[in-house]
Amino acid sequence: MKKHLDLHAAYQPQSFSFRSAEAVKDILSRYPEGRARSAIMPLLDLAQRQVAEDGAKANPPYGGWIPRAAMDEIARIVGQPPIKVYEVATFYSMYNIEPVGQYLVQMCTTTPCMLCGSDNIVKACQDRLGIGLGETTGDGKFSLMEVECLGACVNAPMVQINDDFYEDLTPARMVEIIDLLEQGKEVPVGSQTGRLNSQAEGGGTTLKDAKVRKSGT
Ligand code: FES
Repeated sequence: MKKHLDLHAAYQPQSFSFRSAEAVKDILSRYPEGRARSAIMPLLDLAQRQVAEDGAKANPPYGGWIPRAAMDEIARIVGQPPIKVYEVATFYSMYNIEPVGQYLVQMCTTTPCMLCGSDNIVKACQDRLGIGLGETTGDGKFSLMEVECLGACVNAPMVQINDDFYEDLTPARMVEIIDLLEQGKEVPVGSQTGRLNSQAEGGGTTLKDAKVRKSGT
């Protein structure tokens, strides 16, 4: 559900610069000489996080996204034409190429999540927030996005909000999570039913007698 990159949209800032030259240098140092373009992805991530930090202090708040000016700056840094950076940013759903809310709710609706009720999770989010997919609430706090499998199918249905996964969801729990985030409260991440990672719902069933070997023994 990613939108097209609008290079000339009114929301595009005129300029962008990385706050931490040290962080940029550190990323570039991970790649061999002549391979700076491999740094495009981590630099896009750095830019998105910098925008998110600014957005968390703004009124109304906004979330992390990557302005065109940031992509142009990355192209300059890695010595590539800007289109090479635009191509990467527009391909991956983890890069937001237009403004989003402070909390970006990415709802997985691929088959395992769909079979476990993701349609109801989507509906609960839409009803609670009063917005549709690809939209942001008027207070700048929440955006809704539909995404493909996020790799947590075993704990379906699930959503990703910013960097965190919320799994084993019910519509009621989904609404509670939104309420808590709106109030600035902490929400436990991972399974919302309390199971450990993807352990069976009734608890562990194997290796129960396994003795834990201490390192060095
Ligand atoms: S199908 Fe939803 S996480 Fe895989």
